[in-house]
Amino acid sequence: MATSSPLFSKHATLERHSLLLLIGIIIVVSIGGIIEIAPLFYLESTIEKVGGMRPYTPLELEGRDIYIREGCYLCHSQMIRPLKDEVERYGHYSLAAESMYDHPFQWGSERQGPDLARVGGKYSDAWHRDHLINPRSVVPESIMPPYAFLAKKDLDYRDIAEKLKTQKAVGVPYTDAEIASAADDLKAQADPSASDATLKAHYGAKANARDYDGDPDRITEMDALIAYLQMLGTLVDFSTYHADAPANQR
Ligand code: HEC
Repeated sequence: MATSSPLFSKHATLERHSLLLLIGIIIVVSIGGIIEIAPLFYLESTIEKVGGMRPYTPLELEGRDIYIREGCYLCHSQMIRPLKDEVERYGHYSLAAESMYDHPFQWGSERQGPDLARVGGKYSDAWHRDHLINPRSVVPESIMPPYAFLAKKDLDYRDIAEKLKTQKAVGVPYTDAEIASAADDLKAQADPSASDATLKAHYGAKANARDYDGDPDRITEMDALIAYLQMLGTLVDFSTYHADAPANQR
């Protein structure tokens, strides 16, 4: 009975020829895929806006590069999943906006160590310095490798303006003024005696400027890495963010 339907007879042709069926499947799956994926390219509508997000300061950006260079992401994720135990341990689950200026993002799936998405402000700079020099000095059972050399190595930031420009090319909204004063802003953030007025004008009043590594005479890789760690997860103003409010009232 059904075989008399012209539609079904065409379907039977498809079912009997595996190559035709394969082509048919590819067409159908591609249409579904495009419908799912294409809207994500319009990032404005995909990432909800939250108060407080800003691009990394030049010093934090250098610290982030050291984090990537040293492979910290091989043991640490930076994405708090929206599960009860995660939120209780690490704080509010990560929002998409929190990694909107991350190129590449550091979400990670390996957790030999804890998630670092909100580690900023959890410990003192001195704790981080001691921990990075010798993790076992502060956490006796730690299996984290030591990174003592970071405190001895001067930070090479000759190409910092170029780094900001590269970030701008992939969508991070650095202004020309921020690019022009990148090296000065970097120095101002690591030197407690320098004026941080321009730094704060560019990156907001919450941008911390201080000597991070306990050695005020030099800017080391340790300074940059700790500056980066200390701002992780501290940007979003959660007093103005309510996940269940309609998007335009958050
Ligand atoms: C071989 C895996 C491994 C690597 C690589 C690694 N860590 Fe860790 N990290 C751990 C473990 C395990 C802990 C938990 C014990 C401790 O605090 O030392 C930890 C803890 C930490 C903590 C404290 C987190 C908290 O909330 O208590 C920070 C900060 C940290 N690591 C930063 C780094 C940085 C920065 C790097 C790269 C320079 C790095 N780690 C590389 C394994 C690793």
